[in-house]
Amino acid sequence: MPADDIAVDLNALWQPARAGSIELPHRLAMAPMTRNRSTPEGVPTELNAEYYAQRASLALIVTEGTQPSPDGQGYLLTPGIHSPGQVAGWRKVTDAVHAAGGRIVVQLMHTGRIAHPDNTAHGRQPVAPSAVRPAGVMFTADGPREMPVPRALSTDEVGATVDDFRRAAAYAVEAGADGVEIHGANGYLVHQFLSGNANERTDRYGGSVENRIRFAVDVATAVADEIGADRTGIRLSPGNPYNDIREDDVHELYPALVRALAPLDLAYLHLMHIGDEELLRTLRSLWPGTLLLNRAGADLGARAADVAEGLADVVTVGASALANPDLVDRIRSGAPLNDPDPATFYGGGASGYTDYPALPGAEGAR
Ligand code: PHB
Repeated sequence: MPADDIAVDLNALWQPARAGSIELPHRLAMAPMTRNRSTPEGVPTELNAEYYAQRASLALIVTEGTQPSPDGQGYLLTPGIHSPGQVAGWRKVTDAVHAAGGRIVVQLMHTGRIAHPDNTAHGRQPVAPSAVRPAGVMFTADGPREMPVPRALSTDEVGATVDDFRRAAAYAVEAGADGVEIHGANGYLVHQFLSGNANERTDRYGGSVENRIRFAVDVATAVADEIGADRTGIRLSPGNPYNDIREDDVHELYPALVRALAPLDLAYLHLMHIGDEELLRTLRSLWPGTLLLNRAGADLGARAADVAEGLADVVTVGASALANPDLVDRIRSGAPLNDPDPATFYGGGASGYTDYPALPGAEGAR
């Protein structure tokens, strides 16, 4: 295809947009990615600030998953947003991103049963909707380990967990974030409540579709009440079996969830799309606000076409943003992209993190 046609195809990406109170200069945003490079106390560092600031030319940065409470941590060296020290660490990150002209929302990720006590400071048994052990292993400092059977949260504790999200959102804003994204995807706590196989509860948070969506809606309502709906986003991954999730009723559950979330007037809905086009179109039609779409694996032309036809408002990309601090300039100028190095995705220092080269003179160049 001649270069001119490519430019025309991508044009939809370069129009400004809005996600609640956040003005976006264009429509190519950074998807959340776990990088495991915080301190053992879950405090973001200067290096983390540099990494995010390098990527400030993306329309919006959604940070790596960040635990809203000590029990919300499942992985090694992930950041938290539940202590004053963590707020101070995040302040470095948000200041650096804003100084570089960017926008950043902190993703609130409670991993629920996808956790290992050895990865936390407290060493407690993981908590979850029900005492159902997930299949699969968790990486720890001693290598891969089976994840333990989690402890089922009492109904009161579910309410306390909603409050943890609320408090974490307030901390994120105090730390200078432009908003938060509630992680309701990929088999973590919110998704565990949604699913039939991780949620065996018999209280008002389990059983019917109405009950299984309640935790997600309660969290979104609490966070929106605390920091403003216009600074609150939520990420969902309908039908994603990742982390031992089984969903038998996606065509009933997700429309019900999106219908329940729509009146909250959130800043955005962020969908991780794993292939059900009919469901995607249904959810788009039910969501009146801004929709971020993470169509994993699709080429950029296809993603821009999603924006051009109104299926998505903003496109989020993961690995290419990780590997190219100046991704926007590279795409706009037709320059080649750096390849991501999976060996350095999780953990480590600057290598494979802040040392991906930018083009000379590009935004994001050091
Ligand atoms: C991961 O660390 O493997 C991970 C974290 C969050 C996601 C997906 C994967 O949403």
